[in-house]
Amino acid sequence: MKIIATTSDKALPQLIQEAKDLAQVLAVPYVPRNKLSLESIREVHKAEQILVVTKKNIQLVMSQGVYFFHIGMAKLRIKSLCEGKYDHMASAMDLAPGYRVLDCTLGLGTDAIVASYLTGAAGHVTGLEASAVVAEIVRRGLRSYEEADQEIVQAMRRIEVIAGDYLQYLKSMPAKSFDVVYFDPMFRRPVKESSGIAPLRMLANHAPVSSTAITEAIRVAKKKVVFKEAVYSHEFARLGFQHFCGGKYSSVMYGYIDPEEGA
Ligand SMILES: C[S@@+](CC[C@H](N)C(=O)[O-])C[C@H]1O[C@@H](n2cnc3c(N)ncnc32)[C@H](O)[C@@H]1O
Repeated sequence: MKIIATTSDKALPQLIQEAKDLAQVLAVPYVPRNKLSLESIREVHKAEQILVVTKKNIQLVMSQGVYFFHIGMAKLRIKSLCEGKYDHMASAMDLAPGYRVLDCTLGLGTDAIVASYLTGAAGHVTGLEASAVVAEIVRRGLRSYEEADQEIVQAMRRIEVIAGDYLQYLKSMPAKSFDVVYFDPMFRRPVKESSGIAPLRMLANHAPVSSTAITEAIRVAKKKVVFKEAVYSHEFARLGFQHFCGGKYSSVMYGYIDPEEGA
């Protein structure tokens, strides 16, 4: 998949530098915009995906659509939680201030933002993402996205993003180094109404979670290993999840394992 990086039209030197820096981090070519249309750039450089650094955000332009970082549903979910409403993920994780959370499947960062808000300044959320491009767009988005509610802004800023594979990372970590380890893999059968995840489909790692990864997660977690999938997915039984949150009125469900009990 050939990816190149450029800027929006009439970019100031600071944006050009950011695009060059992004290109270097991702080891992809930087192409000066030179007043060309993205279509011309795509043709000249035979690029399938173009990273466009704009004043507002970084956009990944693909034939299937444009992907850029956005707070998404996180803000609504945080607002609901503040009103005392129930959030299945937060309940499955049993989150409390000060908790250390490992989000093995960061994706667009929505769940990580909610977790970071709930664990607060004393807590810590680390997000792992297999796609280097997604990780970099989300890392920069979390760092710069502006939002009126400063507590949400701080929650975004605190998230640590690591580009890499969760199995390798889990294997490298000491036992009980996080309170909660969380998996939200690409579902085996996509849930149709989940349009928020649509731009990820082209970029994401679609491999199923292995039992080895769950065994490692049980070793690394102190309190909970949480796994999200489509409601009544066979993945829960395959991976040994026996406790559940959600599902009754929802198309998704959260399975969890208490590491003291094991799978
Ligand atoms: C369904 S999305 C996660 C969405 C996320 N929970 C959110 O709130 O935006 C799954 C993500 O996990 C990533 N992923 C899949 N396998 C992975 C692995 N082995 N290591 C790290 N990330 C992985 C995919 O690339 C994809 O971006």
